[in-house]
Parts: sequence; structure tokens; C-alpha cells
Amino acid sequence: MSSAYKLLYGIGFTPWEQMAKSPMINEQISSLFDREEAGREPPYGRALDLGCGSGIWAAKLAARGWQVTGVDFVPKALRRARELADQAGVELQLIEGDVTALASAGVGSGFRLLLDFGCFHDELSDLQRVEEGREASAAAAPRATMLLMAWTPARRRFLPRGASREEIEVAFPEWTITDEEVMDVTGAPKNVRKAEPRLYQLRRN
Ligand SMILES: C[S@@+](CC[C@H](N)C(=O)[O-])C[C@H]1O[C@@H](n2cnc3c(N)ncnc32)[C@H](O)[C@@H]1O
Repeated sequence: MSSAYKLLYGIGFTPWEQMAKSPMINEQISSLFDREEAGREPPYGRALDLGCGSGIWAAKLAARGWQVTGVDFVPKALRRARELADQAGVELQLIEGDVTALASAGVGSGFRLLLDFGCFHDELSDLQRVEEGREASAAAAPRATMLLMAWTPARRRFLPRGASREEIEVAFPEWTITDEEVMDVTGAPKNVRKAEPRLYQLRRN
């Protein structure tokens, strides 16, 4: 397990959670969820949040009518996700596990929607990214959608290294990138604005 994330959750320093407080980002991500739900009635099916952290996005999806599983390797993050789900009155299945070994963590399969907001583009090595791609492909339902947030690649000392469209394609050979949007991070800290985060939509082939 990453000692960096364990430490950050341990001391309560989780700046990425500010993203979910931005009305613009909420609106942008909600509209991507809307797209997945269009023309259907809840329950919408299984959704998998990879590196779910404290469950902010997982809980939002559950409140919308998805049957959500969140995976993270930091127990404290999962405890916070449980508290959030209880407060919000939603059901979440929370699994302590590594995104590079979903099957052995007992995550299961048949997920129609997968999220990766902040895990793939950060500290995973190139090999671990490929492993995440392989495991996500096995867990996904046919024609599933993945929404993946990534910063523009750059050398950054303590911050995520980011991922390019090509790097995402290498890690997810069984998926096609169907959309790519620049995130509106107006008002976010300078390092986030400089990183020009993008939201990628992938479709399982
Ligand atoms: C930047 S945080 C984002 C958390 C959450 N997705 C959000 O948007 O609030 C990245 C999360 O990925 C988790 N993570 C990183 N590498 C992981 C791995 N190999 N397996 C499982 N979780 C991982 C971290 O513990 C952390 O909670």
C-alpha cells in the first residue's frame, strides 16, 4: 500500500476532496452521469469507483440509483466512505483492495460504469496502470463506460505525474476513448489549474 496516501488520510490532508465542492466540476461530472442514465430508470446497474477514497463520488452515484462498489487500499479512507454513506443514507459496498488486483479482492464483475478520479494518473507505475486496465476490463460489463480524470503529464515532485490520452490507450487496450473534456477548474489552486485536468470517457469494446 502507498505510504503517501496512508499518511495523507492519517493526517487528514486530502486536498483532492475540494474538487467535489466546485459547482462547475459537480455540474460537469453530473452531466456525464446523466449521459449514462439517459433513457433509463433507476436502478441503473453496477458502478465501480476505483480508488474511491472517502467515497464522495461513489455516494453521489448511489444517491442517483446506481449499485456502487468502491475500492481503495487505505482503510481510513474506507472508514470515511462508510461514514459518508451512512450520513447520506445510501448503500455502498466498500472493498479494501488494490486496483491492480480487483479479482483477487473479490470485486466481481458486470459493472456498467467505472470511475477513476485520481488513482490512475498518480502513483501507479506504467506496469500497474496496465494491470489496472486488465482488471477493470475483466470487471466491466460489455459496452461499459469508464470515466477517468487525468492531469496533463509532467514531472511534478509530490503531485500526480498525470497521464496522456496515449498512455490511457496503452493501459486500456480493450477500450476506446469516446470523449475527452477539459475540466473547468476555475478557482482551484494554481497547481491544479496548471495541470489542466481532463475527463476521458472510455467505452469497453
Ligand atoms: C487523489 S485520491 C482520489 C480519491 C477519490 N477518487 C476522490 O476523487 O475523492 C486517489 C485515491 O486512490 C487510492 N489509490 C491509489 N492507488 C491505489 C491502488 N493501487 N489501489 C487502490 N487504491 C489506490 C488512494 O488511496 C486515494 O484514495
